[in-house]
This record gives sequence, C-alpha cells and structure tokens, in this order.
Amino acid sequence: QTIYLRDYAPPAFLIDDVQLTFKLAPSATRVLSRIHFRPNPDAKDSVFFLHGENLTLIRTAINGNTITPEVTDEGLTCTVPDGPFVFEAEVEIDPAANTSLDGLYMSNGMYCTQCEAEGFRKITYYPDRPDVMATFKVRIESELPVLLSNGNPVAQDDGWAEWSDPWPKPAYLFALVAGDLVNHPDSFTTMSGRDVALNIWVRPGDEGKCAFGMEALKKSMKWDEEVYGREYDLDLFNIVAVDDFNMGAMENKGLNIFNAAAVLASPETATDANFERIEAIIAHEYFHNWTGNRITCRDWFQLCLKEGLTVFRDQQFTGDMRGHAVKRIDDAIALRAHQFREDAGPLAHPVRPESFVEINNFYTMTVYEKGAEIIGMLRRLVGAGDYKKALDLYFARHDGDAATIEDWLAVFTDATGRDLTQFARWYSQAGTPKVTVRDEYSNGTYRLHLSQSTPPTPGQPHKEPLVIPIAVGLLDEGGTEVVKTTLLELTEAAETFTFDDLSGKPIASIQRDFSAPVILDYPQSNKDLAFLLAHDTDPFNKWDAGRRLAQDVLLRMVRDDAAPDAAYLDGLATVLRDDSYDPAFRACVLLLPSEEDTATALVDAGQTPDPMAIYHAHEALKLLLAQQLQDSLPRLYADMTVTGAYSPDAVATGKRSLGNAILSLMSKLDGGKQASAQYTDADNMTQQLAALAALLKIGKGQPELAAFETQWQNDRLVMDKWFGLQVSCAAPRLAATTAANLTAHPAFDLKNPNRFRAVFGALKSNTAGFHDPSGAGYDLLADWLIKLDPINPQTTARVSTSFDTWKRYDPDRQAKMRGALQRIAATPHLSRDTTEMVTRILG
Ligand code: ARG
Ligand code: ZN
Repeated sequence: QTIYLRDYAPPAFLIDDVQLTFKLAPSATRVLSRIHFRPNPDAKDSVFFLHGENLTLIRTAINGNTITPEVTDEGLTCTVPDGPFVFEAEVEIDPAANTSLDGLYMSNGMYCTQCEAEGFRKITYYPDRPDVMATFKVRIESELPVLLSNGNPVAQDDGWAEWSDPWPKPAYLFALVAGDLVNHPDSFTTMSGRDVALNIWVRPGDEGKCAFGMEALKKSMKWDEEVYGREYDLDLFNIVAVDDFNMGAMENKGLNIFNAAAVLASPETATDANFERIEAIIAHEYFHNWTGNRITCRDWFQLCLKEGLTVFRDQQFTGDMRGHAVKRIDDAIALRAHQFREDAGPLAHPVRPESFVEINNFYTMTVYEKGAEIIGMLRRLVGAGDYKKALDLYFARHDGDAATIEDWLAVFTDATGRDLTQFARWYSQAGTPKVTVRDEYSNGTYRLHLSQSTPPTPGQPHKEPLVIPIAVGLLDEGGTEVVKTTLLELTEAAETFTFDDLSGKPIASIQRDFSAPVILDYPQSNKDLAFLLAHDTDPFNKWDAGRRLAQDVLLRMVRDDAAPDAAYLDGLATVLRDDSYDPAFRACVLLLPSEEDTATALVDAGQTPDPMAIYHAHEALKLLLAQQLQDSLPRLYADMTVTGAYSPDAVATGKRSLGNAILSLMSKLDGGKQASAQYTDADNMTQQLAALAALLKIGKGQPELAAFETQWQNDRLVMDKWFGLQVSCAAPRLAATTAANLTAHPAFDLKNPNRFRAVFGALKSNTAGFHDPSGAGYDLLADWLIKLDPINPQTTARVSTSFDTWKRYDPDRQAKMRGALQRIAATPHLSRDTTEMVTRILG
C-alpha cells in the first residue's frame, strides 16, 4: 500500500496528555495506557483510529467503561463520545521475540526502544503520526536497577520509576530503557544558568569508553547556544549505548539511544575515524532537540525538514571543531560516492519524496545529505547574517509545531525578502544536476557560459531549471587571484557571466567549496588542473583539482592502459612534500578516488565498467605512486609520528591519517616490514588497524590477524573491525569466500546489525570482489539477505541497496545481479521493507 504526500489530512483527534505504565517481562510485557483525546477542530473527518501492530489486546475502556473495539492487523477503531474523552487500553507485547529492533525489544538483557518512524504502534494503540503531539507520563515496573524514560525523573523506588516529559512530542520520540547499566555522569550549566545532569549509560565493562562521548555532548550543548542561541530544556540528558541497533542513533526527547558503535570509544579500541564520527553523531542527536523535537515534522514526507537541517548543523559543528576544509572534502567525497549514486540509479527520489510504501526505506543519503546541501545552498544564497535571522524566526514562529518544508521556506522569504519559488524545486526534483561550463576570453573580457540539465529519474521524465549557486574565483597565470570568490546564481537553463578588465586569459576555479551538489562538466586541461592543485586559494578546489587529475589518470589507465600523466605525479609529490599544508589536507590529496568512483566515471563517459580492470588500474597506480615517492616516504612517515599520549584531536588525527596512507604505500615496496613494526608498536586502534590493513592488502598479515582475534575476542566493536577488514582487504577472487567463511565463525551473529554490516558492507565495498564474474558475491549476499529478512526487515532492505548499480554492468553481470534480486523478490513472506526496495531496484 502506497502512501502519498498529496493525501495528507489533519488528525481527527488530538491528545492532551498520555500516561503509560510498563510492567516489564521479557516475553509478556504489559503496557497500560490512559490517553486524553479531544476532537481536532481542524479535522475533515471524525473517524477514531489508533495504529497498533503485533499487540495482544487485553482490555479497552472509554471514560472508564469497558468497550469492544474493532481490531485489525493495522490498528483499532471504535465509536467515541462527542467532545473530550479518556481512552484506556492494556496490551501485551513480547520484547524478547522482537528481532526487528523496532518498537520495544531486548538487547543483551536490557530493554530498549526504537520508535522512529512507526515503532510506537508496536508498543500500544496510538495515533502514531508526528503531527499528534502530547505530554507523556511514564511508570516503569521492573526489578532491573536502571529504569529510564523521557523527560525529568518524578520518583522511584525498588521495582519502579516514574518519569514526566513536559514538552509535547510525537510518539516517535518516545523511549524507554531498563537494564543493569552503569553510568558516566557529568553536568552542564546552560547559558541562562540552569544545571543539567548528563549521563551516558552503558553495560558494566564499558564505563571506560564514555569520556569522549561526554566531552562531545558538552561541546555540542555549548556550540548550539553560541551559534544558534539554542538552550537545553530539561533537568537531565541521558544517552544509552545499545549493542543491537538498526541505525546510528536516535534523538528521543531527553533519552537519546545510540548504537554502541556510535558512542563508545577508547584509544585502544576505536580509530580516529570512529572518534570523529562519534563526535558528529552525538552532536547530531543533541541538535535534534531543537530541529526535530521542539519543532518536529507534520508527516514523514517532511523528514528532510529535521534531518537535512540537523545534518547541516552537525557539519558546521564538525567544521568548527576540526577545520572546515577537510570536513567539506570528506562530505563531498561521501555525497558524490553515495548520494550521487542513489540519484543516478533506480532508487532516485526527491529530497521530499511524494510517496512511499515503507518510510524506513527513505532514511537515505538523499534525504539526509542532499537535504543538508540544500540548507547550505540557502545559507550561501542569503548570506550568513540573513541565515541567522531566518533561523531565529524559524525557532520563534514554529516552536511546538509539526512543520512542513513550506513553513521552512516561508520563514526564509519572510526574514530575507527572497522569493524561493524556484529554489523550492530542490525539494521536489530528483536527480543530480549537471552544470556544463564553457569559457572564452577576448580583449580583457572573460565569459563563462553555464548551462544546467538534470537527467530523468523514475517517475520524473522532465526536469525544470534549478537555482544553483556556483562559487567562482579567477587566477592569473602567475597564480594571483584576480577575481576573488564570487557567487554566481544560475537560474536559467543556460546563462553567460562576464568578467571584465582582465589582463590575460584567467584560469577559473569553479564550484569553490563545493557550493552546490551538482556534477561539473568543465573540460579543463591537465595542465590547468595541475596549476589549480598548486595555486588555488580555495582548499576544496585545490583538492578537487588533484582529484580530477587522479580520476583522469585512472580512466586512461583502465581504457587505454596509458601511463600516468607526469602533471599528476609531480603535482601530487609537490603538495605531499610541502609542510606548509596540514597533514590532514595532504592525506586527502593522496587519497585516490575509489574503484566505485572510477566505475562511475566510466559510466559517465559512456562505457561499461569492468571491475577487475578498474581494480588492476588502481593497484598499478598505487604501486607507481609508491615507486615515484619512494625517496620521500620514510621521511614523511617519520614526520607524521605523534608523540605523547594518544589524543583524537584534529591535528594528531591528521598526522596519523597521512602517516597511515604513507605506510600503505611503503608496504608495497618493503614487503610489509614497516607495517609489521607499526602493528607491534601500536598503542592505539588507529595505528594497529591501519598496519593490519596494509599487511592484508599485500597478502600478508595472517599471524597478526590471528593475534588480533585473540586480543579482541571479547570486544564486540573491535571484532566488527576484524570481520570487516578481512573482507574489504581480500583479493577480489577471494572476497566472497572470505565473507562466506566468516559467516560460519561462531561470533557471526545474524541478529546483530553491526556484525551483519561488518561482513556484507565490506563485501559491497570490495568492488571487484563483489562483482567477481563468477557471481559468487551476488549469490552470497542474496542468500544472507533472504535469511535476515524475517529477522530484521529494516537492515535487510538497507543492505539490499548494494545491488542498485546492476544496470551499469555487462549483460552477464546484469543477468546475475538481476537473478539475485529476483530470487530475493520471490521469497515467500518477504517483508514490506525489502519488497519495496527490491522492486524499486529491479525497476
Ligand atoms: N532520527 C534518527 C537520526 O537521524 C534516525 C532514526 C531512523 N530510524 C529508522 N528506523 N528509520 O539520527
Ligand atoms: Zn537525524
């Protein structure tokens, strides 16, 4: 059954107040609800319907009188009195049997919840839609020592606890946790002087992994006060780490629940990348308190209202904490690799979709990351000052609302006077726009001819022009910036922008700071790209020039077996040896496009990618880089040594990042000598794991792999790395076998999404391995998706997107991938989640 945005209707009934009592028992939890309903004066119909799934109804009453409602698989209806009334229900649920990790479930003996998007209906009968907001009072009865819910604590004693959340919220923000937990406490004083108790709750044994997350939380609270003027609004902020979780984390009011991998970290067990991700996710969930919770979404089509804005805010935060240039580069790499891929394939959808079957399938790169890019473009177009004005108005006007994208845009129009009618197309039009650039110079005048087009996407054959902010700077031949960064607004299908009074033909630096999420078609010569790599003042475009050179080199190697361009090798060596650049930035410049990126570049050039040929080209280029840079590598590696105690700060992280990239090159020449030494000496996971990866990549490291397992067998999160690394570093021909063998390992656990993704996410990332011509990778993934689906539909559907590029490949691979997809689709009782996803992928 498909749900459409255009069918939105206001709820028939509103809720003033909810009281819930949970009598927890693993297989027979009783949930008692007492809900104050009143008719919604703005409603068009008056049907009383409550969502409910997998509930055993024990008793229902209205105004104290027992009733017998009509119950289906989807919910409950009954006749209700005129005016306000009290609805009560008692239901029984089975958290121990809930392997979907949606609703109330158990994870290693603790109870926890995940209600976004539509999990609350698996807990009790309720209008489970975000435009119904209510205050909640919750009583939990259980012998477990720690009993948590949203809001502020009211009272507790042996066997029970009561919580009250004064802020009206939709059901998707409800949370409950009960378990044998220990906490890492701290506190924060808000800008108006209120003391807030902070806790990170974990299973005993994980106490030592909370300190970093706590610091990140305090930094986030301070940053949101300073940058957005947003203060926290409860006496308490709880975070709980859970081992079994479908996503990264969840912003439940006052009780954020986190995938353990997204909050727990120690130097010995987490990599620099893990630390940075944890800081960003803690910030993201905290920022949702205002952008998501205080102002929520009217319906799930508006998901990008909270997610796009909150991602944009966490990106700003990370930039402020760690440096904007490298953050922008990281975000652009991810956007191009994953969101552009989504936009270019069968799963393309607008940032605000117009229909869905299962909303969980729309927590996508497009909604989140392209959604964030839209906010970034708005800010660029109106300027930082007007952006702030608009945000202040947004918070003032919509606090307490379930809002829409129209509300969001109206705030910008009202605050800045800008007409956003055309800009709004970014929300409704799917696909990545291509901006074509041609230029000409004569007599001191430089003309940039820009044109835009967006390819058709499923359901959207025709596209309209968008408002595209293109940041441009011009350099003269000597490398002097003759035109500083200027924002061009491309609004027509084609437009020409003119720059006068130049003394010679400039070299253009276009789409600075990645000013719009578009594909640039601007055939600059390798000479010009090398010039920009050396001289551009915009760090993003400086990096991107190197990236474009590398991509060109790789394309030629794959297509024509050509030797790498000297311009690239020289430019790279120059940047790498230049100590005036951050190590983190230099590491970005050294990083090659992924094999998947090269496949995309080939597709864009009208060719069918051969993953094996791409693999060989990438390996050959890495070897060549190692040889070319041979003389500098030991010095650079030594320079990147970080002394003193491990710290995951940006400077130390940057040094390790470059050092480990160098190590990987060195290992291609020294047989793994340096990597073995680093493995032995490492006192932190970043160094240990990078050394192990370097060894595995050259076909060595088996003793280290075994030692690693012995050392870390009792640490789930580290073991996820052990599982994943073997598959991602396997030679293509061995990737599927390696993954298959790991699924037979006693520690492989189908019920744990982190473990499943460790193996199968790694298989997908091993591009040549996944696409091995035998089809073994496709078959293995299909087998395991079919096994996982009845256990966990959400994760199955998500991982099934690994097949979304099937139409790119040769007829043989296409047939094999299609066959795998059809086999999944034909599985009896396949979940709604996976059915929708696989059907869309098949197209
Ligand atoms: N709102 C959460 C976040 O962005 C994501 C939760 C999504 N969960 C889901 N089952 N779709 O941080
Ligand atoms: Zn979010």
